[in-house]
Amino acid sequence: MELLYLAAALPVVLSLSWAKFRGLEYILINYRWVFVCFFLLPISVIYDVFYFVRNWIVFKLNSAPKLHDKKVQDVQRQVKQWASDGCQTQMCTARPGWMTVSFRQGLYKRTMRNINVNLIDILEVDTTNRQVVRVEPLATMGQITATLNPLGWTLPVLPELDDLTVGGLIMGVGIETSSHKYGLFQHCCVAFELVLADGSVVKCSKDENPDLFYAVPWSYGTLGFLVSADIKIIPAKKYLRMEYKPVHSFNEILRVFEEETKKKTGNEFVEGLMYSENEAVIMTGNMTNDAPSDKINSIGNFWKPWFFKHVEGFLRTGPGVEYIPLRHYYHRHTRSIFWELQDIIPFGNHPVFRYLFGWMVPPKISLLKLTQGETIKRMYEQHQMIQDMLVPMADLGSALKCFHKEVKLYPLWLCPFYLPNLPGMVHPKGDKDAMYVDIGAYGEPKVNNFDPVKTTRNIEEFVRKVQGFQMLYADSYMTREEFREMFDHTLYDKMRGQLNCKKAFPEVYDKVNKKART
Ligand SMILES: Cc1cc2nc3c(=O)[nH]c(=O)nc-3n(C[C@H](O)[C@H](O)[C@H](O)COP(=O)(O)OP(=O)(O)OC[C@H]3O[C@@H](n4cnc5c(N)ncnc54)[C@H](O)[C@@H]3O)c2cc1C
Ligand SMILES: *[C@@H]1O[C@H](CO)[C@@H](O)[C@H](O)[C@H]1NC(C)=O
Repeated sequence: MELLYLAAALPVVLSLSWAKFRGLEYILINYRWVFVCFFLLPISVIYDVFYFVRNWIVFKLNSAPKLHDKKVQDVQRQVKQWASDGCQTQMCTARPGWMTVSFRQGLYKRTMRNINVNLIDILEVDTTNRQVVRVEPLATMGQITATLNPLGWTLPVLPELDDLTVGGLIMGVGIETSSHKYGLFQHCCVAFELVLADGSVVKCSKDENPDLFYAVPWSYGTLGFLVSADIKIIPAKKYLRMEYKPVHSFNEILRVFEEETKKKTGNEFVEGLMYSENEAVIMTGNMTNDAPSDKINSIGNFWKPWFFKHVEGFLRTGPGVEYIPLRHYYHRHTRSIFWELQDIIPFGNHPVFRYLFGWMVPPKISLLKLTQGETIKRMYEQHQMIQDMLVPMADLGSALKCFHKEVKLYPLWLCPFYLPNLPGMVHPKGDKDAMYVDIGAYGEPKVNNFDPVKTTRNIEEFVRKVQGFQMLYADSYMTREEFREMFDHTLYDKMRGQLNCKKAFPEVYDKVNKKART
């Protein structure tokens, strides 16, 4: 898979090196869109079409289940080989760092023993008895909706970007606008299958090896290699009936957002986009099969405005109702990568651009990373912030004030989620289930004194104080002690001892802290 990708990207990498060689770095930075539009976009399209067709054929032929056991045995063989070679360095998956959605790459990929976990398929869709889908860890969200939705089913929590993988969402974290009802992605999983440090395969669920089951989420591949997961599915409907509620004061934002989240009769989806300290659009939605044809808006069509721009319009026009095809809703922020793409293709939302090139958007995050070069990377590090902070709903007001003071970065993404009191790294600090909110800040901070380290540390400190959590795909500047204060390591440490992980895998902190990444 990586090979094909690399072959496709080779011309870009070569031309980049050539351009650097000719001292053209200035042009590369200021006219990055030229590269993105004429190289990255077409390659992204070819890649997506290839995998769409490939996955469709594999699913129709039903060939993946037969191959699964063989592929798992191959992972086992590699782990046993590592042991018989004397356990010299710790292990990690061989997936290159530039392929992941996170903007950072782990330095450890270069030094640790790389284990190929090449498991990319949907194994089984059981719509009758257990109502679960069984998938391999590299299956992506785009692939899963493309398979499940036509069958009339969906995942209760379906994280937004097409390229997010099941493995990344379980070992890391996954969240969506239905999370206030169903919890995080991990809470929709009913079983995991892992290859452990001793090369054995185990299954775990809340009834079978429960300690392992609860320790896996947020463990970042440091307890074993995930080789499959059973995830709950629920019936899907064709459309989402969406209500847009513009609000124009800080207190109203808090009030409407909380009220819609906790509404007794229940909205199935709740999301907020804040456009300034005092302006936001709160969106609520339910699935439905019937839609008046004049109210249908297929927001995912390539010529349509970027979603966050469309939503902003309701601040001027007042409340509105639309019916959005379900899959368009799920991947509503995909085309503009939330609002990250506006910094790369500044005119990307211009109608002329959308009609001519829109069908190729977005460029793959992985290819953007692969081709960005040192200068652009440094520029991003100094001037951009990408963070998701998870805070208790009760502290949302002070959290927004903190973000405003530290970064003044808008739009801000607000996504409520339900956090059950279960064992593991992340649970409410009291002994009760609680409602939390994910605050997503992506883009260029507008404060004058933005300093990536100092500012992020200030926000991290705030989040620890209110007993919240940082999403670990982003830059974390915490010390080991601060990290252990934020994440409950009790069960994790116990499992690492029991499963002999110390030699086999680093601790989560050693994979996710800023020094471990480039
Ligand atoms: C622009 C942007 C937008 C985002 N939007 C969302 C969003 O809408 N919703 C959301 O929930 N999240 C979002 N995220 C964050 C996302 O949740 C994380 O990046 C997440 O970790 C998934 O990324 P990935 O699939 O690329 O996983 P990876 O980064 O590849 O994996 C994450 C970790 O899991 C480990 N891992 C993966 N597979 C295995 C395996 N088989 N065995 C053992 N360990 C494994 C890896 O070693 C790694 O440490 C966003 C991130 C960015 C940058
Ligand atoms: C969703 O359904 C619930 C229960 O019927 C209702 O209270 C809520 O207003 C609906 N929301 C939308 C956006 O239609």
